[in-house]
Amino acid sequence: MINPAQRTKAIELSQIRKMFEITNPDAINLGIGEPDFDVPENIKNAMIESINENDTHYTPNKGYIELREEIVKKFKDDNGIKTNPENIIVTVGASEALFMCAQAFVESGNEVLLPNPSFLSYEACVKIAGGKITPVECSMENEFKLKADDVAEKINENTKAIVLNSPSNPTGAVMEKEDIKAIADLSMDKNFLIISDEIYEKIIYDKKHYSPAKWSDNVITINGFSKTYAMTGLRIGYLNANEDLCEELLKIHQYNLACATTTSQRGAIEALRGPQDEAVKMVNEFKRRRDLIVERLNRMGYETVNAEGAFYVFPKIDDENFVQKAAKAGVITVPGAAFGSNGKGHVRMSYANSYENIEKAMDILEERLVNG
Ligand SMILES: Cc1ncc(COP(=O)(O)O)c(C=O)c1O
Repeated sequence: MINPAQRTKAIELSQIRKMFEITNPDAINLGIGEPDFDVPENIKNAMIESINENDTHYTPNKGYIELREEIVKKFKDDNGIKTNPENIIVTVGASEALFMCAQAFVESGNEVLLPNPSFLSYEACVKIAGGKITPVECSMENEFKLKADDVAEKINENTKAIVLNSPSNPTGAVMEKEDIKAIADLSMDKNFLIISDEIYEKIIYDKKHYSPAKWSDNVITINGFSKTYAMTGLRIGYLNANEDLCEELLKIHQYNLACATTTSQRGAIEALRGPQDEAVKMVNEFKRRRDLIVERLNRMGYETVNAEGAFYVFPKIDDENFVQKAAKAGVITVPGAAFGSNGKGHVRMSYANSYENIEKAMDILEERLVNG
């Protein structure tokens, strides 16, 4: 047995994936973290065309200039962020961008503020980099929205960064503009970094998304194509940061991956340039499902916030054995505690499954767990 490095020992494999592997394949899966839609035709065609053109060589480390120019336009139009192609790095998913941030800026002695609960990768990235987690509680009373006052209380001289994720995985919470702005101001006053994971930006209902980079220069904005264009397996994302930050991030990207896949980059150009109607249709369908699942859960007595974004709900379920019982009955869910201590007493349910399957899943829970 070869001993792993201490940094590898400090983390564990995701329990969520492990659980999927052992459950009944006929169960309805409300554990999924990816859209159940196909990649739009125009994007598929652009990728096929790129292969037929033998566009399969290395690209510039930061990504194709055409793609970075489209991303600059997107930041201006959608987020009010003025940037330029030199400040963009195209990455292998938002996942790589998160890892790069931690590797480039976090080291032993640094504290990184994370919303509690939050996406599993954040903690792992910080720990691998040798940093320490400082959780900031997101309470159900605030609909799980991260509040600037709670963040301010946790800042000290060791604070290196905070990760923001609005809309949020696992809660679906969308932060309020004033909290995002206040945290952005704080990052300038106290000189820490904001790593803003905006991967669910477009999956938002009757609410506006705000980027902290509008108000602070200490921000790395991360986004990608996995959720908006159902391109999860194509592994393509991007980040925007000021020149100095970008230079450090590029070192990590360059020596790790050289560049993102050509085919996916060509698909991403088409995703941004082409019609957006498939993405809009998908969001409308998610909203219909959100309305259904929230209504059904509340009716069953599982208190559920009417989450304003992403495709997750985070009902309050005190039964410690709920996830196992539900899986046995044929519905896969994820225990809230997997996302941080504050997730205890909750269950994450994804509605990236068909309307009919969600109805069926709710019927099963009602018959077998509530009335059974
Ligand atoms: C909050 C959050 N950030 C990042 C990612 C990773 O996205 P990508 O597929 O672009 O690596 C996910 C995927 O589930 C996520 O939920």
